[in-house]
Amino acid sequence: MQYKTDDGTPPPASSYYCIVGFYAIGVLIATCVFDLFFYVEYLHDLRTQPLNGEYDYIIVGSGTAGSWIATRIPSDNVLILEAGPNRNGLMDVPLFLPLLQGTNYDWHYQTEPQTQSCWAMNENRSRWPMGKVVGGTHMLNNMIHFKADRKDFSNWFETNAMLDRFMEFFEHDLWSNVERGFTTELGHVFIDAAKSLGFTEDEFFHPFVTTRHGRRWTTAHEYGTVHRPGHERMTNILVERVIVHAGIAQSVLVSRAGQRFRINARNGIILAAGTIGSAKLLLHSGIGPQSQLGQLGIETIINLPQVGKNLQDHISTGSELVLIRNPLNLHPVDIVHPKNVFHYFTGNNRESSLSFGGCEAVGFVSFGGNYTSDLQFMVLPAGLSSDGGVHLRKILNIKDSVWHDYYEPLLRMGQSVVTILPILLHPKSRGEITLRSSHVRDAPVINPNYLTSYEDVNVLIKGIRLLQKITQQPPARKLGLEFNPKPFPGCTMQPFDSDAYWECYVRSVTHTIYHPVGTCRMGSTGADSVVSSSDLRVHGVQNLFVADASVMPGLPSGNPNSVAMAIAEYFVRSNFPPSSVMPEK
Ligand SMILES: Cc1cc2nc3c(=O)[nH]c(=O)nc-3n(C[C@H](O)[C@H](O)[C@H](O)COP(=O)(O)OP(=O)(O)OC[C@H]3O[C@@H](n4cnc5c(N)ncnc54)[C@H](O)[C@@H]3O)c2cc1C
Ligand SMILES: *[C@@H]1O[C@H](CO)[C@@H](O)[C@H](O)[C@H]1NC(C)=O
Ligand SMILES: *[C@@H]1O[C@H](CO)[C@@H](O)[C@H](O)[C@H]1NC(C)=O
Repeated sequence: MQYKTDDGTPPPASSYYCIVGFYAIGVLIATCVFDLFFYVEYLHDLRTQPLNGEYDYIIVGSGTAGSWIATRIPSDNVLILEAGPNRNGLMDVPLFLPLLQGTNYDWHYQTEPQTQSCWAMNENRSRWPMGKVVGGTHMLNNMIHFKADRKDFSNWFETNAMLDRFMEFFEHDLWSNVERGFTTELGHVFIDAAKSLGFTEDEFFHPFVTTRHGRRWTTAHEYGTVHRPGHERMTNILVERVIVHAGIAQSVLVSRAGQRFRINARNGIILAAGTIGSAKLLLHSGIGPQSQLGQLGIETIINLPQVGKNLQDHISTGSELVLIRNPLNLHPVDIVHPKNVFHYFTGNNRESSLSFGGCEAVGFVSFGGNYTSDLQFMVLPAGLSSDGGVHLRKILNIKDSVWHDYYEPLLRMGQSVVTILPILLHPKSRGEITLRSSHVRDAPVINPNYLTSYEDVNVLIKGIRLLQKITQQPPARKLGLEFNPKPFPGCTMQPFDSDAYWECYVRSVTHTIYHPVGTCRMGSTGADSVVSSSDLRVHGVQNLFVADASVMPGLPSGNPNSVAMAIAEYFVRSNFPPSSVMPEK
């Protein structure tokens, strides 16, 4: 098997070293700049103190949900606490998003070694970046805004009235900061190819992204536009635990630079620390499974066995699986090219490839179950080798041996690739988060148990089969899309292209889509859930709430950021009289 350029000659090796060198320098400069911003903010924050020792409400976390709650809460006495620093304008450039992973603005989480999946990754571990910055994970996500359908939430709430209240976020279009993103030819071709198989434009389309004039726009940006004089936000401050006294959550214990202090909340403490952060914080506060807490020497305040359980994530497969004959009009070098950066800031942002969030087309497919969709496609115009192996393979944790055997040869041959990910939307496998120790600065144990249910493997194989059909349609053939004919290392024992081969492939190339949810699920009682679905209050504690992606009982049939916003809005609408809730814009 040989890869060739258009005129049949292999490209010169110099172009390979050029990409690697160029990219390495770009990444180095970007990392230094981000680090510099980080330390400037950090030193600045060390000199600030909270103005008061007591507030009506304390919101923990300024991410997607936390900043939305802060925007909408009808209270003028609120403290927002964020473990990360302030954001800066450079981070608003959409295409820089992979550069933020692995910096000080990321929590650097990774999963435990997986037995049934992630075989192509070092120690079978998946990396889980998450935002540690004002704006949270919305600051480093791909910005796809998913408009969810009521059908997906039919078993989330106890009554129809609650479901109606939750759906108001989507039905009233409360988030209007969306634009159609940058696309290459690939997005159009993919959609056309799917249409020739009978899919409609409601199923395969160019997604909306959360940008304004080509710049990233998060709920934290939105919060910056509202005038809330009684609000205070502290950054670079870690909430260590919630202090519950006589069944009432009364204060939070926080720390910064070795200093610890307590801040009281008169009416409520709202955890919006994310799927990992909120579960971890409850466990450190003595709210969780009693036996587990006892082993770590943490006194149990409320025995809630479901804290940390029910962890679910969207996963996908396929990198360098689809080759493309003709290169597209977006080169990975664009990300760090000074000329491009200059044009972005001086010209029309939206026309620049830097306004690109990574994904140019999506597709939703149903296999006829209880959900609107079972499989999603995301189309990206590059592959993990496109940056010369400088950065992407590290953030995806690819083993060196696999890199040299499978990915690097493509790069050396100058073979262009694209990424079309089939995504498992409703996994049957369940994982959990537990504490590693009673030290609050230790990362928790994250075990998603990817692909422990065979049905999950099956859906991904169906996705690959459908992708084969799509790439065989005339529009895709014309663009020169074809499946990579090289067997994946470790799977050569299976007949190529058999279901057994694809099972091995899926278990090797298991990519997270970064959508973990469910660790503080909502429901009706403390036996089946962590918070009440009627108002998101933690069972058995007064004045303590969780409102973020962790309360989702299951995954939505698409990207979850908008659903985290809807949960935040639901929290506000459920706990404050309608007349007092901030007017809609
Ligand atoms: C690479 C990547 C790409 C993604 N792409 C998309 C996409 O295209 N579309 C989409 O819909 N979704 C996407 N997502 C997922 C989406 O961004 C998340 O589901 C969403 O941001 C979750 O919001 P949240 O409010 O629950 O948590 P977060 O936004 O993570 O907010 C939690 C905040 O709490 C802070 N915090 C945590 N613990 C503490 C503590 N102890 N003390 C103080 N502060 C604390 C954190 O620093 C953080 O700021 C992506 C995620 C990633 C990582
Ligand atoms: C990773 O998976 C492989 C393949 O199943 C297995 O042989 C290996 O022991 C696993 N490694 C770890 C660290 O669990
Ligand atoms: C659909 O939901 C019903 C009722 O909750 C359940 O019995 C059934 O197993 C579900 N079907 C699938 C395919 O999950």
